[in-house]
Amino acid sequence: MNVQVTASRPEDIAVDTLVVFTTSYDAIPRGAMKSLDDASGNILSTLLDSEEFSGASGETVTLYRPDGYSCGRVIVAGLGAKQDVDADSFRRAMGVVSRMKGIRSVGRAALSFDAHLEPANVGAAVEGYLLGSFKLLNYKTGDDSSLDTKLESLEILVDKKSGARKFESAAERGKIIAEGQILARRLSATPANDLTPKKYAKEAQRLAKEFGFSCTVLDEKAIAKEKMGGVIAVGQGSAEPPRFLILEHKGRNDKQAPIVLVGKGVTFDTGGISLKPSLNMHEMKQDMTGSAVVLATLVTAARLGVKRNIVGLIPATENMPSGTAIKPGDIITMRKGKTVEIINTDAEGRLILADALDYANKYKPQAVIDIATLTGACLFILGYAGAPFVGNNSKLTDLIREAAANTAERVWEMPLWDDFKQAMKSDIADLVNSGGRPAGTLTAAGFLSNFVGDWPWAHIDIAYMDMEPKGTPYTPKGASGFGVRLLVDVLANWKKV
Ligand code: BES
Ligand code: MN
Ligand code: ZN
Repeated sequence: MNVQVTASRPEDIAVDTLVVFTTSYDAIPRGAMKSLDDASGNILSTLLDSEEFSGASGETVTLYRPDGYSCGRVIVAGLGAKQDVDADSFRRAMGVVSRMKGIRSVGRAALSFDAHLEPANVGAAVEGYLLGSFKLLNYKTGDDSSLDTKLESLEILVDKKSGARKFESAAERGKIIAEGQILARRLSATPANDLTPKKYAKEAQRLAKEFGFSCTVLDEKAIAKEKMGGVIAVGQGSAEPPRFLILEHKGRNDKQAPIVLVGKGVTFDTGGISLKPSLNMHEMKQDMTGSAVVLATLVTAARLGVKRNIVGLIPATENMPSGTAIKPGDIITMRKGKTVEIINTDAEGRLILADALDYANKYKPQAVIDIATLTGACLFILGYAGAPFVGNNSKLTDLIREAAANTAERVWEMPLWDDFKQAMKSDIADLVNSGGRPAGTLTAAGFLSNFVGDWPWAHIDIAYMDMEPKGTPYTPKGASGFGVRLLVDVLANWKKV
């Protein structure tokens, strides 16, 4: 699908479908909506009286061949109350519109923003259309047929005086960001037999080549040489050996310290010897979503030409029970040299992230952000509504909060109190890998903090946010790819921390 900017009045454009946005109205519609009401035999006011359409968020109405319009149909899409309208209103409205036959079965559509013509709204509308069109039937990456749309071109209408340039780049940006998030959704949803650590590494290398960044893969021998005790321990129960992926995007200045992103890449989490119950265990194919978000963020940063050096670190492994698996009570030595008493083999994510965080020291990073489906306890903090996160630097946590506001990918900061670090001390080793049920999300963060160097760090737990349980306007049920818009925004608006 092609996105472009066209200078035209909405009345004059001969597309199959014209989308017009409206805020809620409680009397005869005004402005552009008044003209459309007049052109359609006052259908908009009639529908207001019958309470069928008032411009509320999620509402749509289709008008066929209104008088004086050159298009085949107009879809009027509700944005909700005027005072609440922001970029996400357009993302949601276009998510709803994306599932209408009147747009997805036609060739050419145009969007008229009228008084709302702003780059952020244009970008969000394009994102909403693509994200809402996503279908999970064909999960193979690189295959566009997983979009449920035949639409060939989506045109943004501008008037001559507002200038096309900034809207062109906003639309193109929205497209690239949505495609990044869709890539993360596909990887996330890919069954574990099709995404073993080895296959994952191959796919990352293919993407790196296609989009112009580098991908180095450490195999099990190189991982052993690095003494990554956490990655080795988690991987040792599986017939599929682990991999450690190093992704590098170069910005403008080679010497600038990079921002390092770390993603949990457990391609399947059975729990290991501390086996999970079988109910819903299949969902643990998504336990690599943090890493998929990191990989998709690198792809997106490369495509957008982000001017900063970015490194992605992905420990990829299965967590399996077997005769070679780690056992509760085992004590392992991490890359950093610290010893960890394994209380629960299902607390595996922190073990591999810890080695990756320690590895990040190699880069003398400006900052490190890790993202992971780390703890089931997230369900009891924010549920499916947002991701809890922690950090050790207020400028970095501010950046993440601002990015959440810009992208409508919600996060909420939690405290990194000493209590949570204390809970991870072992009587016989330096650390335990499980702090038990209380504050499970935060004791996991407390564990990770032991492996953080002298740099700003943030940790985002996306357990449950990786999954949309019911379906929302632009997130169909299933893998959400949550975190791509957020991290891309953090990188694009980076300020020294
Ligand atoms: N991958 C899981 C966390 C998870 C659970 C993500 C449900 C999404 C949905 C993680 O490896 C895990 O099993 N964590 C344990 C830790 C506990 C044993 C300390 C958990 O949260 O129960
Ligand atoms: Mn686990
Ligand atoms: Zn896990």
